Amino acid sequence: MRENNKPTAITSVLHEKRVFPPTKGFSSRAHIKSLAQYRKLYNESIKSPDRFWAKQAKNELTWFKPWKKVLQWKEPFVRWFVGGQLNVSHNCLDRWLDTLTANKAALIWEGEPATDGKPGEERVLTYKQLHREVCRFANVLKRNGVHKGDRVLIYLPMVPEAAIAMLGCARIGAVHSVVFGGFSAQSVADRVFDSQAKLIVTADGGFRRGTVIPLKKNVDEALTLKAANGDLLAKSVEKVIVLRRANNEVHIAEGRDVWWHRELDYVDAECAAERMDSEAPLFILYTSGSTGKPKGILHTTGGYLLGVKLTHKYVFDIQDADVYWCTADVGWVTGHSYVVYGPLANGATSLMYEGAPNWPEPDRFWRIVAKYGVTVLYTAPTAIRAFMKWGTEWPGKHDLSSLRLLGTVGEPINPEAWIWYHETIGGKRCPIVDTWWQTETGGIMITPLPGAIATKPGSATLPFFGVVPEVVDDEGKPVPRNTGGKLVIRKPWPSMLRGIWGDPRRYKEVYWSEVKRSYFTGDGCRQDADGYYWIVGRIDDVLNVAGHRIGTAEVESALVSNQKVAEAAVVGRPDELKGQALVAFVTLKSGVKPDHAIRDELRQHVAKEIGPVARPDDIRFAETLPKTRSGKIMRRLLKQIASGTEIKGDTTTLEDFSVLAKLAQSEE
Ligand code: WT7
Repeated sequence: MRENNKPTAITSVLHEKRVFPPTKGFSSRAHIKSLAQYRKLYNESIKSPDRFWAKQAKNELTWFKPWKKVLQWKEPFVRWFVGGQLNVSHNCLDRWLDTLTANKAALIWEGEPATDGKPGEERVLTYKQLHREVCRFANVLKRNGVHKGDRVLIYLPMVPEAAIAMLGCARIGAVHSVVFGGFSAQSVADRVFDSQAKLIVTADGGFRRGTVIPLKKNVDEALTLKAANGDLLAKSVEKVIVLRRANNEVHIAEGRDVWWHRELDYVDAECAAERMDSEAPLFILYTSGSTGKPKGILHTTGGYLLGVKLTHKYVFDIQDADVYWCTADVGWVTGHSYVVYGPLANGATSLMYEGAPNWPEPDRFWRIVAKYGVTVLYTAPTAIRAFMKWGTEWPGKHDLSSLRLLGTVGEPINPEAWIWYHETIGGKRCPIVDTWWQTETGGIMITPLPGAIATKPGSATLPFFGVVPEVVDDEGKPVPRNTGGKLVIRKPWPSMLRGIWGDPRRYKEVYWSEVKRSYFTGDGCRQDADGYYWIVGRIDDVLNVAGHRIGTAEVESALVSNQKVAEAAVVGRPDELKGQALVAFVTLKSGVKPDHAIRDELRQHVAKEIGPVARPDDIRFAETLPKTRSGKIMRRLLKQIASGTEIKGDTTTLEDFSVLAKLAQSEE
């Protein structure tokens, strides 16, 4: 039993001993019913991957043309289902049209509640309706000059049109690049430039906690931003399609901008799905790394779809009558794989919610669970810790008895939060699947299968089919059980990234050079005596703030792009709610005095350069940053300083690290 409801900071999971075996009731109805059944399938998937994946691809997907070869592996470049042809939108929509699923809800959408307290709007799209809307939008794309292989940037709020736009691209073979609505104009411009997108799909605005986020205005600004050489960053953009959502006033540039709803008048509802090569690019999604600008992670068609379909089916144990809700925004990979593609490929009902968990009140999620009878809920540990803080009275107001399975993703979950989720939300009856994966992996990699694998709070447990993880030391040798090391994946899997857009060298360098002959995840991990994996978090210079991945180098370069800043170093410190918080150590240019105004200015500056998610929690000013003799910033020392004592009341005092640095010098 728990003593109290207070969330504690991420505590060590080393001493966590509780085990929660699957219940008989759950297992007997699950797709995978026992550990033995899991092991049998897993062994098959490892021993004869070609046979295993050929069988799955045949059973799960509809192909226009069969593949010639299941897997072609020329490390680190992989091709799955070589020579095969299919279409993702066809597999998510058309294939259901002559089945009972045709009139089932594909998407249930709940809008953010209006500011006047009125309940949110509600929209339901059946598979048939969604198919129709996707075909119409695909025709709109074509009408506006988009061809197979062209890149389309999608910058939309969490509305059904986000899924429609993605599927519309997939239908005609255009490559989408979704940019989270919380990112800035600069981020949009950078991503257009990197991918050379031809068209942007956006909305006038999106709602967030009662305010309107001016998406179109950001796009307008993005289209004026210039690179260092004076060229427009977004000069590849020919057209902007604008969805009317918030009804805020926007500027429409004649000849360039068109309204989504007007365009629909010119198209019909028939659009054949393009025959796509199994390895044709499906989407690019930018994510932060430990150096430089975000990387455009590339996912392709056949392997990706098979991976997300299979994981969605088995990890969430999807059944016909489920109302499945993944709370992620489509701007993140979780939204791609587990709001849109995985669920629709399974003919499931996927719920989308536009707004925040605590707007207008902290019971918003639980109200939605009760309203629609949500059966499977997939959310982030950071949200769970926030719910704990807000108190049990909020979920307590609503009937949550429809829930049968809970999931988490994005960061390690501390056992306290796991237990709270299990008891308060799951009523002690719902298994929890703690799913480990990454933007790069496309789909879930390490996870319990809820009817088969006993769970332990804080562990993602065992690998999914076809996944061969290993915990290794700096030399790449496997470490003994119960020893920490680097998490690597030894064999290619269908939904893995195919590369970094336009940069094969960086792909090799970042993922395939740290540990020989392995994919390096960037995560630290430990395997316990039962073989369970316990992910401890990033071991590179990447932070996980409230489940969002933020590269410290990116924030540093945003800070130094401000004229007043001489130098900056960004590190993480543990945070009760967000897992990690961003602490920036800044030295100002000579003559500039630190004060609260500069501090606010810099925080704003980062929000503008990258987006509010990257805004530093603390900014601490220093005379100089502590450095090694060779001039490397002593990050380990800064981390200790950042997470050590509580932040001083006056954060604008200059801190002097020189003495500390000298002391630490000998240890580096
Ligand atoms: C990083 C990937 C995958 C979708 C959301 C984040 C951390 C993710 C877990 C988990 C411990 C986790 C890792 C990983 N992470 N899930 N269940 N337990 N850590 O995608 O932005 O690509 O971040 O999130 O550190 O490397 P992402």
